Amino acid sequence: MKKVNETIIENLLSQMTLEEKIGLIHGNGIFRSGGVERLGIPSLKMSDGPMGVRREIKDQRWFLACNTDDYVSYLPSNSAIAATWNKDLAYTSGQVLGSEARGRGKDIILAPGINIKRSPLCGRNFEYMSEDPKLIEELASSMIKGIQDNDVAACVKHFAVNNQETDRLAVDTDLEDRALYEIYLPGFKAAVKNGGSYSIMGAYNKFRGEQCCENSELLGTILREEWGYDGAIISDWGGVHDTKAAANSPLDIEMDVKTNFDNYYMAKPLLEAVHKGEISEDQVDKKVRNILRLMLRLKMIGEESKQRKSGTYNTISHQQELLKVARESIILLKNEEDRLPLKKEITKLAVIGRNADTLHAAGGGSAEIKALYEISPLLGIRMELGGNTEVTYHPGYYVPFQKVFDVIGWQETSTDVKAERAKREEIWHVLEQESQDKREAEEKRLREEAVLLAKETEEVILIVGLDHHHDVEGNDRVSYELPYAQEKLIEEVLKVNPNTILVVYAGSPVSMQKFSGKAKAIVWSYYNGMQGGKALAEVLFGMVNPSGKLPESMPKELNDCPAHKYGEFGREGSVYYNEGIMVGYRYYDTEDITPEFCFGHGLSYTSFSYHDLEARVNKEKGVFLSFSIRNTGNVAGAEIIQVYVSDPVCSVKRPIHELKGFTKVFLQPGEEKELMMELKPSAFTYYCTKSKKFVLEAGEFIIEVGSSSRDIRMSQTVKID
Ligand code: BGC
Repeated sequence: MKKVNETIIENLLSQMTLEEKIGLIHGNGIFRSGGVERLGIPSLKMSDGPMGVRREIKDQRWFLACNTDDYVSYLPSNSAIAATWNKDLAYTSGQVLGSEARGRGKDIILAPGINIKRSPLCGRNFEYMSEDPKLIEELASSMIKGIQDNDVAACVKHFAVNNQETDRLAVDTDLEDRALYEIYLPGFKAAVKNGGSYSIMGAYNKFRGEQCCENSELLGTILREEWGYDGAIISDWGGVHDTKAAANSPLDIEMDVKTNFDNYYMAKPLLEAVHKGEISEDQVDKKVRNILRLMLRLKMIGEESKQRKSGTYNTISHQQELLKVARESIILLKNEEDRLPLKKEITKLAVIGRNADTLHAAGGGSAEIKALYEISPLLGIRMELGGNTEVTYHPGYYVPFQKVFDVIGWQETSTDVKAERAKREEIWHVLEQESQDKREAEEKRLREEAVLLAKETEEVILIVGLDHHHDVEGNDRVSYELPYAQEKLIEEVLKVNPNTILVVYAGSPVSMQKFSGKAKAIVWSYYNGMQGGKALAEVLFGMVNPSGKLPESMPKELNDCPAHKYGEFGREGSVYYNEGIMVGYRYYDTEDITPEFCFGHGLSYTSFSYHDLEARVNKEKGVFLSFSIRNTGNVAGAEIIQVYVSDPVCSVKRPIHELKGFTKVFLQPGEEKELMMELKPSAFTYYCTKSKKFVLEAGEFIIEVGSSSRDIRMSQTVKID
C-alpha cells in the first residue's frame, strides 16, 4: 500500500481538539464524514456503488437531489465482470468507475462487493463476483487498482462472511476456521494486500457473536494484525451498535442511514465516554491517523494535493470500454445444431419476454444507478438488424408490480427491522389485492399471444430471467424457479418453435432443469451495464464470438447446493456453514453431483484444442506449467484456460478441484499459442486448524488444465517434497 509522510499525520493530530477528532470518525452527512475546516481537513465524500456512481442524495435527508448532472455510466455488475475472467477488463471497469467517482467529486467509491456466492438465493449475488476465492482474488485486486489509479479510494465490501440478506442486520454467522481462511477471506486479503484497497467496509451481520463492524477477530486479529492493514475501516450504514465496542475496535468511521448525526455511537456518546474516562483518547487517535493517512493517499491533503486527478464521467471512451466488458461477459451455455449465431439477413424475428424490454439500472438497492442510458436487449437487437428485418416484440409474461420499493425511501428505514417488516407486509397486501385469478388470467393471455407469435415466426428469441424485484438488497429470493410463470411460457414456446433461442438475463442462477434439455441454444447474461443489450445482440448475430464463462455453478436443484443441503441458509438468528470448504464446484465435483451448468463453463463459436502440458517443479518457486492452445475452428475467438489442483492423498479431506490459475487467450482461426503459467507453493496448501496456518503436505498433486471444472483436457501428476 502507498506509503505516506506520517509526520504530517502526527502534526495535524497534535493540533486537533477531541471534538474535532470525533467529528472525523462518524457520518456528518448521509454519504460524508466530518472534516476540520480550521486545519484544512475536508470531509470524505462517499458514494455507492458497484455498478456506477449512485445518483446524488441530499446531504442531510434521504431525498433525491433531483439534479440533471448525476447521470452516469452504468457498469456491468460484478458478476458480469467476473464472467469475463479477464483481469485487464476488471482493471478497465475499475478505471471507469474510479474516474466517474472522481468526476462526480467523490473520495471513496463503495465497491467492489466481493462476498462469496454461497447460495443462488442471496439477494445481493448480482453485486458479487463468484463462488471461488481465486477468481475473486485476481479480479477484485485488478478492479481496485483501476479505481485507485484515479485518486479515489475503493471500499471493498462487506467484510466478512456476509452471504445472505435474511435478518441481515443481526444474523450471527459461524463456520470452521478452514472454510473461513480458504474460502471466505482470501478475496478480502488479496483486495487489501495485492489490490491495496485504501478502505474496507464492515458487514451488517454478526460473526461469532460480535457485530462485524465492531468485531475484534475480523477487524483486529485478522485485518490489522495478520494482514497488517493500515487503511480505513468504514462501517456499513447502521452496522455499529455500541459506543464502547466500536470505539475499542479497529473501526475508523461510523456511517449510518439515520440522519441524527450527532447521536451516532461514535459521536456525542463517545465524546461523553472519553470525558468520563471510560474510553481512552488514544483509541480515537488511532482512528484519526487512519483517516488522515487515507486522505494523504488520495492527495486530499498534503504536498501532493495540487496533483490530484480530477476524473470525468459519461465520456464516449468510458462507454466504449464498458461495451468491451459487456461483450466478454456474455456466456453461451448451450448451442446445439449451431443454432447460434443467427444470420442477420432474416426478414421476420419475434422477440418475446419482458426482460427484452426491461431496464435494470435503477434497481437493486444501494447499487441502483441513474444511467445516462441503458440499451435493452430489444433495442440492441433492433440496432443490430436495422430496418430490413421486421422485429415483433411481445412481453410474454406478466409482471404484477412494477415497483416494490420506492427507490429512495427504502434506505432511510432499512435498519429499522419493524418498519421494514411493515413495508414488506404492505407490498404483499397490495399484491394480494390483485386476486390470483386476475393474475393468472393475465399470465395466460400474454402467454397465449406470445405462443401464437412464436408459432408464426421462424426465428424467435425468448428473453427471460430475473429483475431487481428478486435480485435485490435486503431480501433473499424465496424460490429457485423463475418467477412470473416463465417456465410455462418457455415450455410452450419451445413446443411450437423448438428452434427458439433462449436468453436468460439475471443476477443469480435459476432453476433450468425443466427446459435446459429442450432448448437448443441458451445464452446467459448478468446485469450487463449500459451497453448490455448491444453486446447481447452482437453475440446473437455473430459480430462477437462469446467468450464469457460461468464464475459460479448452476445447480440443477436448490437442494443440491451444499448451503441448502446441509441446512443453514436464509435463517434468522444464527447460521452455521455446515458445508465448510465444500462451496460450489468444490462440492459438486468432489461428490460427483452434476450441476445444470458447471463452474467455468462457456462455449464459443469456435473450438480449441489443448496440447503438450509440461509441469516442472522448482523447490522454492513452485510449479512452472507450459502448454499450447490452438483455435481449431473457422472464426477468431477467446478461450479461458483454467488450472485446477488436487491433492489425492492428504491428512484432511480436500476438494478434487481447486482453481489455482487461469488465463484468457485470443486466437485467430488455426492459430496456436504456447502459454506459461506459474503455480506458487501456496497453490498446494490447505489451512491447518491445529497450527493455524496454511501448510503444504509433501507428496503427489494432480494438476489439471481445462475449459471448465468438468471439461479437463490435460493433466499431470507432480511430486512436491
Ligand atoms: C449497503 C452497503 C451500501 C450502504 C450505503 C447499505 O445498505 O449494505 O453496501 O454501501 O448501504 O448505501
